[in-house]
Amino acid sequence: MNLSISPGKNNVGAYINDINLKSLDQDQATEIKKILNQYGVIFIKEQNLDPETYQNFAKTIGQPVVYPRLKGLDEKFPFINVIERKPDDKNLSFGSSWLHQDTSYLSNDRPRYTMLMGKEIPVGQGNTIFSSGFNAYDKLPDEIKEKIKDATGVFSSAGPIAVTRLEREKEMGIKSSESMEAEHPIVITVDGKKTLYVSPGHLMKIKNIKKEEDAEYLKNYLVEHVNKEEFIFSYEWSKGDICLWDNLSILHMASEIKNCRRVMHRITIK
Ligand SMILES: [Fe+2]
Repeated sequence: MNLSISPGKNNVGAYINDINLKSLDQDQATEIKKILNQYGVIFIKEQNLDPETYQNFAKTIGQPVVYPRLKGLDEKFPFINVIERKPDDKNLSFGSSWLHQDTSYLSNDRPRYTMLMGKEIPVGQGNTIFSSGFNAYDKLPDEIKEKIKDATGVFSSAGPIAVTRLEREKEMGIKSSESMEAEHPIVITVDGKKTLYVSPGHLMKIKNIKKEEDAEYLKNYLVEHVNKEEFIFSYEWSKGDICLWDNLSILHMASEIKNCRRVMHRITIK
């Protein structure tokens, strides 16, 4: 490995240091994707990419996809969504309050990666909070690992986090879409390591466990577990920073923002 990396707080993800994405070569792109899959989330400071370079970087990771509920930047850059928080916005931030894994409620073709770049960053607030499913799985007691080894989760777009989506849709004048639901194994292997896929913001129920009466207990246990301080990294943004995460292994949520403007460029990648 040639790129210099250092761990995020609590061993959540990795910073990639000393890289300029404006002059990325093929070897570096291959290595970045390897680091991303291995660590789950990467942090690359102060890149300030123009839309074209940003969208091209996304294409080195996978296929960018149009995210149906968010506006595209313009016709030339349909894959870049603008996430804007205005000073007088009173409602919850999009994707706040609940750790989640993006679009876990889709059965097939779940986009795997989400990338954000900071365009306008308020001072002292607006962190993005990450939790590592790798680390959370590792620290589970053996007895819980045994109970959930074949379990599946039922994930719904109408889960606990839905309130931020509904507010957003109202704000944009979009007619509220029907809820979507999917089932996925909650213990999965990514890059040879087991990780937890429990997306608390969408998780409705746990199935396929030996004792049905354990279902509610295990659901609450796992939600509480991934929220433990020891698995969390609250990332403080600088303008131009890029955070890129694998939704299979990393959980995230927005934090509360009050009385200030914040703009992010988001790309969703398959
Ligand atoms: Fe999200």
